[in-house]
Amino acid sequence: MPEALKLDFGSFAAPTRGVLVLFCGEGVKFGPATAKALSSASGLLARAAKAERFTGKSGSSLDIAAPEGLRVDRLVVLGIGKGTGLAQKDFVRVGGMAMGKIPASATNATIFAELPGGPMRADQAADLAQGVRLRAYAFDRYKTKRKEDEQRPQRRRLVVATRDAAAARTAFAAREAVAAGVVLARDLVNEPANVLYPEEFARRAQALRKVGVAVEVLDPRALKKLGMNALLGVGQGSTRESRVVVMRWNGARKGEAPVAFIGKGVCFDTGGISIKPASGMEDMKGDMAGAACVAGLLYALAARKARVNAVGIVGLVENMPDGNAQRPGDIVKSMSGQTIEIINTDAEGRLVLGDVIWYAAQRFKPKFMIDLATLTGAIIVALGHEYAGMFANNDQLAERLTKAGEATGEAVWRMPLGPEYDKLIDSKFADMKNTGGSRWGGAITAAQFIKRFVDDKIPWAHLDIAGTGFDSRQTDTNRSWGSGWGVRLLDRLVADYYERRGA
Ligand code: BES
Ligand code: MN
Ligand code: ZN
Repeated sequence: MPEALKLDFGSFAAPTRGVLVLFCGEGVKFGPATAKALSSASGLLARAAKAERFTGKSGSSLDIAAPEGLRVDRLVVLGIGKGTGLAQKDFVRVGGMAMGKIPASATNATIFAELPGGPMRADQAADLAQGVRLRAYAFDRYKTKRKEDEQRPQRRRLVVATRDAAAARTAFAAREAVAAGVVLARDLVNEPANVLYPEEFARRAQALRKVGVAVEVLDPRALKKLGMNALLGVGQGSTRESRVVVMRWNGARKGEAPVAFIGKGVCFDTGGISIKPASGMEDMKGDMAGAACVAGLLYALAARKARVNAVGIVGLVENMPDGNAQRPGDIVKSMSGQTIEIINTDAEGRLVLGDVIWYAAQRFKPKFMIDLATLTGAIIVALGHEYAGMFANNDQLAERLTKAGEATGEAVWRMPLGPEYDKLIDSKFADMKNTGGSRWGGAITAAQFIKRFVDDKIPWAHLDIAGTGFDSRQTDTNRSWGSGWGVRLLDRLVADYYERRGA
């Protein structure tokens, strides 16, 4: 059952019901509109603050049920410290924090978009509202029983009170599109693999047509014809057929080279014949987080009518052990013509990406290519869950991604590439092998493998999101297992560097 949170903007009139969320600065300082709404409860507030030793420190809060003098059922005062010098991502985070303070059972809530220094601008209130949307997400469609206090009402209504509701609404349109893209990606990652297999992913991708994305689905016959044997080899042990989905959004001049995003979509990764241990294997339903991000991104770009030509291509397979499964020692010929010796069938993501990246370059001659993949456990060893690993053949693209990461909080950390690593994947029998032979530098040898399918004339970046795509850091704007990581990062990259300004 999709959650229904109706979110709108309104004025600073004192609300008469539900939960009221207000912000205050250090020393319990309020902005003028907030102070006015509180004027009939100032004595209560002073006493409560004293009793709770609440001073307005950033992250602290004061929660008062049935506040005397106010008509609302609950008052929440959120400390935001000094409340100055906040960046865009901070307003998103503040919105998430505010949403986190509203009980799940509340049907009505109002958040005052005002800092101690005065009302937030329309764009800041819109950022806050985006944070509310992101925090409100919960994947609970398979929960049929619920404890009393966890029961969510069918409909929830939330008003963000601002100085200029119309301007905030306008500013929110694009941000809501991006949030919807994140939600789409989270849903795809959270779905179990018995529900979301390659064909079903492709079916859901086709829903992007409603926002104007052209969607093409390639089945195994078409993939065979193209020569995508590396990708097909991964899927051959599964009864679920493989698919490649091509999504195109044309928001710029016809004929202008597109930007290209490629996603690893292993709907379930058992490891294949090189089977994984049982413990934690259930997480491998999220091994399509790269593909989910690409779908969510294309949705976001189309829904906000980004002035860019973009293509998203996802390689969808299921990696299973079976009588027909690929074996260690097998040699496959990729679409590029290069041959690959399979050493470990659990190093399957790179096989999928090699073919899809090659295809993307041949067909679309893109301005750049960025691939996203939950590719290696090794990147989690290196970076934990804070940064995604970034590998790039182009400094400008790497710098732009780093900046977009800082702006959105979806941070990337650049890792090295080089011939010393590349030679580790030379094979005795074929052009290359699919693992580096040891665990050391495992995220790098994986990136080197993908690089062998990239023409260095095309700027390319590979994002290893094994640590950020699922089971990642729980933040003020994400309490979901599948994080939807990357949608905001790449939307920002496009907005800041690749969209045509003006008409
Ligand atoms: N999907 C996994 C990587 C992964 C592990 C993602 C944990 C998220 C969490 C990938 O297909 C894989 O199995 N990689 C192997 C490569 C190895 C066999 C060279 C790994 O990281 O162990
Ligand atoms: Mn694997
Ligand atoms: Zn995998």
